[in-house]
Amino acid sequence: MIYLDNGATTFPKPDCVYNAMDRFARTGAVNAGRGAYRAAREAGKMVEETRELLISLLDAREQAEAVFAPSATVMLNQIILGQNWTADSVAYVSPYEHNSVLRPLEEMRKRFGFSVRQLPLRGDGGIDLDAVEARFAGEPPSFVAVSAVSNVTGYILPAEEIFRLAKRYKAFTLLDGSQAVGLIPLRFGRLRADAVTFAGHKTLYGPFGIAGCLIRNKAELNVVLSGGTGSRSTSLETPRRMPGRLECGSKDTVAIQGLNAALKWLRTVNPLERERELTDYLLASLRDIPGIHLYTAPSPERQAGVVSLNLDGFQCGEAAAILDSRRDIAVRAGHHCAALIHERLGNRDFRGTVRVSLGYFNRRSDIDALAEALRTMDRKQLENVNPDSLRGLC
Ligand code: ALA
Repeated sequence: MIYLDNGATTFPKPDCVYNAMDRFARTGAVNAGRGAYRAAREAGKMVEETRELLISLLDAREQAEAVFAPSATVMLNQIILGQNWTADSVAYVSPYEHNSVLRPLEEMRKRFGFSVRQLPLRGDGGIDLDAVEARFAGEPPSFVAVSAVSNVTGYILPAEEIFRLAKRYKAFTLLDGSQAVGLIPLRFGRLRADAVTFAGHKTLYGPFGIAGCLIRNKAELNVVLSGGTGSRSTSLETPRRMPGRLECGSKDTVAIQGLNAALKWLRTVNPLERERELTDYLLASLRDIPGIHLYTAPSPERQAGVVSLNLDGFQCGEAAAILDSRRDIAVRAGHHCAALIHERLGNRDFRGTVRVSLGYFNRRSDIDALAEALRTMDRKQLENVNPDSLRGLC
């Protein structure tokens, strides 16, 4: 398989991740933060070390707590449902947001009746910061959510600039770092984010099952999920102390061990440099293919290793099915759970986009195979595609 779906999850993981998980699963995977016996203490130390690695990655020492959750979606729900919404709240989202932000926000909007607005874009798809400033002045924000990197076009959004404007109104600022933490240099303090969420299995090169956020010290969230925290067991009140307040239930210590190994590996490599080099090569290889439409960031310095495309004469799902069935090339097709931006991209006739997302372990030969397959794509090739590869578009 030629794997070009790293936006969905990076694959493969570095060997050290598999090795660390296997060793820990066999020798140390007891419950952390519950018992006081030696193995539980060791597991607890590993969890705390992993928090420290995350805090150090985002340069957030003494500014933020690292909180774990089983997925970025769960974490985003805890943050969004945990706000003090009222009918007068005004939430802004970028048009690049994922349903893991848009849908919980919509649930809250239906319940409380507040306004949800989109941040304005320029003609080239970049965030129009002057227009954002004017909109905020006209209708001050109480909550602003921005993706660090679009999972559709790879656009690195100007989150720092948006949050600087949002903080004039003391809005809660949320950075969805699912496609960015571990890849893009992010400094918690400079960002002025109240929370930065991460997905361990994506740009951090860890396993599924571990995600979370860095949340500013003293940020107030209402409790959304409650249960055992391993502390103050005789009280019915959810403990106030962070990060436990947001972490009820047993943690997946095997996944955390995998993330721990991935975070140490990330200190020894430069995935951004590698992705940039591969992305330049990808764009140069695809640009001249007859009938191709590329959907990219507004400028090369704001481009991460995710690119969308379409090919005249093919719905996106058809092109992806041919790539899968005939060439064993794995890409995602459809709307990528990010509905708003597709209206802007104008790809209705194609029913979304074919998304090519690169990772540290891709090679130029993967891109050569993709370019060759797109260049020679023919509708006759649809005759013998596996019908299953035409399903599952959304
Ligand atoms: N959110 C993931 C993606 O972009 C699954 O494909």
